[in-house]
Amino acid sequence: MLLPRERTEIAPGAVHVPDWLNLEQQRRIVEACRGWAVGPVPMRSARLPGGHQMSVQTVCLGWHWQPYKYTRTADDAGGGQVAELPEWMAELGQKAVNAAYQDPVAGLNYSPDTALINYYGDAAAMGMHQDKDEKTSAPVVSLSIGDTCLFRFGNTETHTKPYTDVELVSGDLFVFGGSSRFAYHGVPKTYPGTSHPQCGTKRGRLNITMRVTGME
Ligand code: SIN
Ligand code: MN
Repeated sequence: MLLPRERTEIAPGAVHVPDWLNLEQQRRIVEACRGWAVGPVPMRSARLPGGHQMSVQTVCLGWHWQPYKYTRTADDAGGGQVAELPEWMAELGQKAVNAAYQDPVAGLNYSPDTALINYYGDAAAMGMHQDKDEKTSAPVVSLSIGDTCLFRFGNTETHTKPYTDVELVSGDLFVFGGSSRFAYHGVPKTYPGTSHPQCGTKRGRLNITMRVTGME
């Protein structure tokens, strides 16, 4: 028997809301991401300052992120002007905050100005890290579509234990704010071939994180 997956507060301010996006919403987002992946800035695997190239591929909206800063032009990916973050996505971000915190006004002043769209191929993973290039402590809103992944949500002090492992399935929402905003987190692995057949993508995993950069 499949146990129901329920909204869970993993840590104070860090909330997992299973099945938040319906299949139609997932397909629309995947379609939009297909367009952004090809331009004006192409999706690419960012290179870390130490030389390591990430296995995840990324394209950004609003502000371009490269390790470890935000710019309006994609200086490490052809120099193009980053695409705008559409109003519908910012509104989705507000609704996500409301849903996560079960408060119809929690997202009222939430106005994400960047979204990082990450694509995980079968072997892609993301090491434990903090999202700390933003100048604000507004929550991060994370949407998952496609293959299920193992998402590791840790603590604000160290990239090791204690942490909680959560499976993020196509359509799931995860929001981390409050005292969990700067917690370490990562994706040790995805589960290839677990994507919902009607979510819009047959292979791989898409993750969208909306953030408030605090940049002018
Ligand atoms: C991230 O931490 O930027 C991405 C997390 C995820 O892929 O779920
Ligand atoms: Mn992150």
